Amino acid sequence: VFVNGNAIYQAAREGHYAVGAFNTNNLEWTQAILQAAQETNTPVLIQVSMGAAKYMGDYKFVKTLVEEQIRIMGITVPVIMHLDHGNYEAAKACIEAGYSSVMFDGHDLPFEENLEKTAEIVKLAHAKGISVEAEVGSIGGEEDGVVGEGELASVEEAKQIAALGVDYLACGIGNIHGQYPENWKGLHFDRLQEIAEAIDTPLVLHGGSGIPQEQIEKAIKLGISKVNINTENQLAFAAATRKYIEAGKDQEGKGYDPRKLLAPGKQAIVDTVKEIIGWLGTPSVK
Ligand code: G3H
Ligand code: ZN
Repeated sequence: VFVNGNAIYQAAREGHYAVGAFNTNNLEWTQAILQAAQETNTPVLIQVSMGAAKYMGDYKFVKTLVEEQIRIMGITVPVIMHLDHGNYEAAKACIEAGYSSVMFDGHDLPFEENLEKTAEIVKLAHAKGISVEAEVGSIGGEEDGVVGEGELASVEEAKQIAALGVDYLACGIGNIHGQYPENWKGLHFDRLQEIAEAIDTPLVLHGGSGIPQEQIEKAIKLGISKVNINTENQLAFAAATRKYIEAGKDQEGKGYDPRKLLAPGKQAIVDTVKEIIGWLGTPSVK
């Protein structure tokens, strides 16, 4: 049921739009992301971090959860099932588990080793029709235990990794995971432009939450095709849940029923994902 990410993101790069990549954390997140994609009639990438997969069980369970929800919900838009920021073992496990896309994040390895391991993953994944994301430079901040210094991607390294045939490339361009600090300097558009001019590979903007809309739009014009969003949905979920409880709704009737208690947060994710899809300019599926 899952599709490989190559054609979808290649079309995005050529068409100067982006396709959202949303992290899932549980059942409600999965349902909300799929619902938003179906309602906007756009392709979507659902990704899971190593930490979230561990929280839910394992990689196979997450894949089965998404797959079964696609069936149960009658989802007809293309869905890419992707591993986010995987280490070597995780990437291999997801290739085995039947994901349609994996990220091998070798940013913390010496570059030669990142290159070598990325090449191995590309070989294993492509043999099974699975797309691969690699990373050069690093993303600042922390996501589920993956920590980065925010090192700016080098054009030379981007060229070498792209030459391995990766399907999409994450580059450090001043982007940060989690919430952006008050004194954040913004994205490094010059470096993004240099990389985009040097390679045709669709580029990935990690840490998509909290970047002003104009900067996201400019980055997409320059060559960003995949925008990763996690924190934005977490904030929306938390705010809607807080509002529900603070209004005392959990104390009215059977408002404490988890299916009622989690509903406003889930709806907030649907709304957030739909709004972001609008920003990215993702065209509808014919
Ligand atoms: O890999 C996932 C993303 O880069 C998410 O970043 O939580 O800052 O939106 P974010
Ligand atoms: Zn990321």
